[in-house]
Amino acid sequence: MEATEDLPQWFLTHAVDLVFNIAEGTHGEHRESQVPAILESLGVPFTGSNSITLALALDKAKTKQILAFEGIPTPPWQLFPNPTTRLNPQLEFPLIVKPNREGSSKGIWRESVVGDEASLHRQVAHIYDRYRQEVLVEEFIDGMELTVGVIGTEALPVLEINFAPCEPSGEFFYSWRMKEFQGNASMGLTPRLSCPARLDAARTAQVQEVALRAHCALGCIDLSRTDIRLGADGTPFVLEVNPLPGLSPLDSNFPIMTTAAGLSHQALIQRIVELAMARYRQISRSQPGEGRSRVHPQERSTSQGLAVSRVAP
Ligand SMILES: Nc1ncnc2c1ncn2[C@@H]1O[C@H](COP(=O)(O)OP(=O)(O)O)[C@@H](O)[C@H]1O
Ligand SMILES: [Mg+2]
Repeated sequence: MEATEDLPQWFLTHAVDLVFNIAEGTHGEHRESQVPAILESLGVPFTGSNSITLALALDKAKTKQILAFEGIPTPPWQLFPNPTTRLNPQLEFPLIVKPNREGSSKGIWRESVVGDEASLHRQVAHIYDRYRQEVLVEEFIDGMELTVGVIGTEALPVLEINFAPCEPSGEFFYSWRMKEFQGNASMGLTPRLSCPARLDAARTAQVQEVALRAHCALGCIDLSRTDIRLGADGTPFVLEVNPLPGLSPLDSNFPIMTTAAGLSHQALIQRIVELAMARYRQISRSQPGEGRSRVHPQERSTSQGLAVSRVAP
């Protein structure tokens, strides 16, 4: 089903057991929460996180406030509501400038990493003009790039994205160009992916624990993917949490991690469906006699009972 404007009408005229939600929404600052909000209002069960988590995770600065409150490391930052905002002198260059509410590295280019105040203000003005939203400025963490999937209450094997092979292209992190043309050898955009990441067991466990804590802090349900960079002393800094990670077996990072954990793509999809079904069954058992329209999947993951999956050999 396309998530078009007539979607609510469609659900009113069709019986649905469960929606497998991959909708990113149409427009607006809370777009990823639109379809879950419709489904919640109609009482239709769906996979994955609810509307509040999806809206929250799309706001990187609000996400960082929650992470910081929970004691989860995230790069020092400042939100620029507009280009006239003055830089907090406590932030240390190099800094990275990002639109606060985009994804897929939209608005993130190699020029986004700035080494002085004049370039910073130029870049902030440029992002503000182009995206018409607040601009997030963060310390640039020049360490290993990792991403960690969580499924159910388990962290998957860590995926490392190494940009060293891309050096001749001038791209050195997961910029828009890097994501858009990943694998294009003639452009030199062939990062080396390692899953599991080249980390010792203790660091791996620490990174997985941070991803699980971030997943819980944002109230993610069924699955998420947390982007992390390692600081010079090995601290895993959370860049952002993705409660709606891409699941394409062709070019998404999440399935690389589930494959490393020994799950086929079919088994991954099945697992997500089963997690959602179990959640809704539990809710309807605890609310016997209530109609479908009263079913609300408010159950949140908690930090209790979390498990870390064994890395596949
Ligand atoms: N503070 C940072 N330090 C180092 N690299 C960063 C930082 N913030 C973003 N990046 C780089 O930019 C990429 C995209 O940023 P991210 O915050 O994950 O936004 P998006 O939602 O577009 O994926 C990251 O995967 C990473 O390569
Ligand atoms: Mg990201």
